[in-house]
Amino acid sequence: MKEQSIRLNTFRAALFSALGGFLMGFDASVISGVVPFIETEFQLDKIELGWSVASLTLTATLAMLVAGPISDRIGRRPVMFGAALVFLVSAVASALAPNFETLVAARMLGGLGVGAALIIAPLYIGEMAPPALRGRLVSLNQLNIVIGISAAYFSNYLILGMSQDGGGLAETLQLDTLAWRWMLGVEALPALIYAGALFFVPESPRWLLMKGRPEDARRVLGEFNDAPTADRVFQEVAGSLASADESGGSRAHWRELLRPGVRFVLVLGLSIAVLQQITGINAVFFYAPMIFEQSGVGTNASFMQAVLVGLVNLVFTIVAIAFIDRLGRRPLLITGVSIIFVCMSLLAWGFWNASYTLDAQAVAGLPAALDSASLTSIIDQRFESDGAFRSAVTGLIGPEAWTTHQSALISSAIEIQSLLILLGILGFVAGFAMSLGPVMWVLFSELFPNRVRGLAISFCGLVNSGVSFTVQLVFPWELEALGNSLTFLIYAGFAAIGLVIIVRLLPETRGKSLEDLETELARTPGDS
Ligand code: BGC
Repeated sequence: MKEQSIRLNTFRAALFSALGGFLMGFDASVISGVVPFIETEFQLDKIELGWSVASLTLTATLAMLVAGPISDRIGRRPVMFGAALVFLVSAVASALAPNFETLVAARMLGGLGVGAALIIAPLYIGEMAPPALRGRLVSLNQLNIVIGISAAYFSNYLILGMSQDGGGLAETLQLDTLAWRWMLGVEALPALIYAGALFFVPESPRWLLMKGRPEDARRVLGEFNDAPTADRVFQEVAGSLASADESGGSRAHWRELLRPGVRFVLVLGLSIAVLQQITGINAVFFYAPMIFEQSGVGTNASFMQAVLVGLVNLVFTIVAIAFIDRLGRRPLLITGVSIIFVCMSLLAWGFWNASYTLDAQAVAGLPAALDSASLTSIIDQRFESDGAFRSAVTGLIGPEAWTTHQSALISSAIEIQSLLILLGILGFVAGFAMSLGPVMWVLFSELFPNRVRGLAISFCGLVNSGVSFTVQLVFPWELEALGNSLTFLIYAGFAAIGLVIIVRLLPETRGKSLEDLETELARTPGDS
């Protein structure tokens, strides 16, 4: 086969399977635009609101645990196909949900797709990619996640805009009342495309060999490699499977993760997995418009700013991919996590200095639906924190009216450097995208010995998702109970701790072969 068509085959299979990343990113972050609508429509309290966002990550966490073993049994491709169908059904079901419970159930179904896609796409690409292209092709998955996130922000923004501008199409789609349902429902389209694209993706050659189908494995390897490379890879994989068989069965056991030589790298992997989430990325991603609303810019601008968040994420992920093999993992992590620390501190400081005053003119400009006469007693009174302002206003107009009109109330009362908030958030996202975002996945694929890699990645992925779930669940409550400033200060604190861990413990893995790393890391002091 010609070199050009080999490259085309390889790139196409990697890209098509990485569409799972796109759907994962889209599905997870589309909820950010839905939140303001369902909070009012279903009259949700803060923990219910947290549930509507975080429930997806809960089932994603479970799916991560089982997706690997299931794919060992039935193949990588059927699991990807199953994920595509799950995305499709979940999109339609959540768009049609008659109540909060059904919505959460439909989102949880989607979570199964998210968890499966998150584990299987990189696993599949790692197994089919020729060694020389593996790093870049695996990164395609993170790039797709990020593009998926941006696409969701953008489609939310478009739908919101159309629903406000009216016009024939908006009327036909009944966007004035169904906007959030369309935001969720449009995902059915990329899900269908993903399912269709998978027909052009062959099964993983490594899996075929594991299942005793050497002829099929050879054929697929031949699609992705020139003849001598295909032959060499075939021998290597067959050899490694044979030696794994000798050392205690072809399947690694969970217990092996605690073996000396694995323990230290497992602690490193877990630290990075926790750090990636505990610094608040998904609080920012999935509640982006809500955070911007807190800075008083109003609903439309906050949706627009969420689009910016997606773009910055995309651009800096590309920057990271360009530099990861040149500069190394450590410099990217140290720079990125330092930026995260500075930006989170900046946000804490910005919200700390905010004050809230409703003057007579502001009250007159509030939506007519709000009984503004009841606010007379606090006119011109200055509140030094979001919490104090919220309790005063809620005391006067009641919690339901607060939930419905908080954006208008906050934006009429707040005095804050909203540009500082925007820059803080964008800087934070840039810091994440050039470091913890992509580098975590690359480290996962490098830190662990061949034999336990699949298990270790599943385990670290599980912890990563678990922390992500908790962060998302408590975020609305944190904003309300602790206030904006303290919430961001806590993230800054975690970034500082993470920075110390990275600087002191993390070895550089750039440019070394996986086998060299295996020997080197097994000798680390953590295991003596
Ligand atoms: C993380 C996700 C996050 C995404 C943002 C991924 O690496 O695992 O939790 O939402 O990056 O780009």
